[in-house]
Amino acid sequence: MANSEFYNWTSVDSSINPIEIAEYLEQLNELSDFIEYKSKSYQLLRIQSGQQILDVGCGIGSDVKRMSSITGKSGKVVGLDSSITILERAKELSFNWPFPIEFINGTIYDLPFQNQSFDGVRVDRVFQHLENLTNALDEVKRIINRDGIIVLCEPDWETLSIDSDNQAQTRRITNFLTHCIPNKSIGSQLQFLCEQALFKNIESYSYEIKFTDLRIADKALGISRKLSVNEISNSAYFREWLEEMEIRQKEGIFLAHVKMFIVKAQKE
Ligand SMILES: C[S@@+](CC[C@H](N)C(=O)[O-])C[C@H]1O[C@@H](n2cnc3c(N)ncnc32)[C@H](O)[C@@H]1O
Repeated sequence: MANSEFYNWTSVDSSINPIEIAEYLEQLNELSDFIEYKSKSYQLLRIQSGQQILDVGCGIGSDVKRMSSITGKSGKVVGLDSSITILERAKELSFNWPFPIEFINGTIYDLPFQNQSFDGVRVDRVFQHLENLTNALDEVKRIINRDGIIVLCEPDWETLSIDSDNQAQTRRITNFLTHCIPNKSIGSQLQFLCEQALFKNIESYSYEIKFTDLRIADKALGISRKLSVNEISNSAYFREWLEEMEIRQKEGIFLAHVKMFIVKAQKE
């Protein structure tokens, strides 16, 4: 199986399509359900003017820019990401941005900041791809101020559901779409992770991300990209399934949904 169908999120720069990956993030960030859960994550951080905020795994920097309009001229939002290509796009997209922001290349496992450097830290759809969750969370905790806030946003891919007349077949498809995600159920585990890491005042919220348009779901979930793998795209069950989805699209009854969890916690 070619690797290009499944984006390698922990090593974007060494994948064959880093620019395509950056474009994919731009498209997702425009979806209304994404804008909604992301807005909730900023509220939970209780961002105030003058604060220092860090977005780990910031991608193309949309959240960095949005949060910086709250930290204002006297504060700063830093975006850190392990991909140089994605950060280059983030910098292009924020050229001449009117509020203090900075993009830094680095890894969540070894953040280039002193202890207690930030009032709030946000991590959005990064933990699902990480190998060592405990080390990552401990490292993030180290650089948060006392009483500072962490907000984690992650889906639970076990909840991915696509309406179909043949649920067994659809389950095979959703399993295939999500099988390469290292921490598929991370969304449901975030609260426990924060408890283990001894954060206080933990709050958990869940959001339904809905796709009522097959074209948008296709892009967001990578349906045709991932299922373009030869043995699957040629299989009768996949062709039948896709035909059913096209009919549902024409009839206006296509629906796919997945749960996104947002957990807010405070450092002791
Ligand atoms: C699914 S994207 C989410 C991007 C962004 N948070 C958003 O909401 O659009 C995951 C991001 O995490 C970055 N990433 C993956 N592993 C990382 C690590 N160990 N340290 C920092 N960033 C990492 C990837 O380069 C990618 O930009």
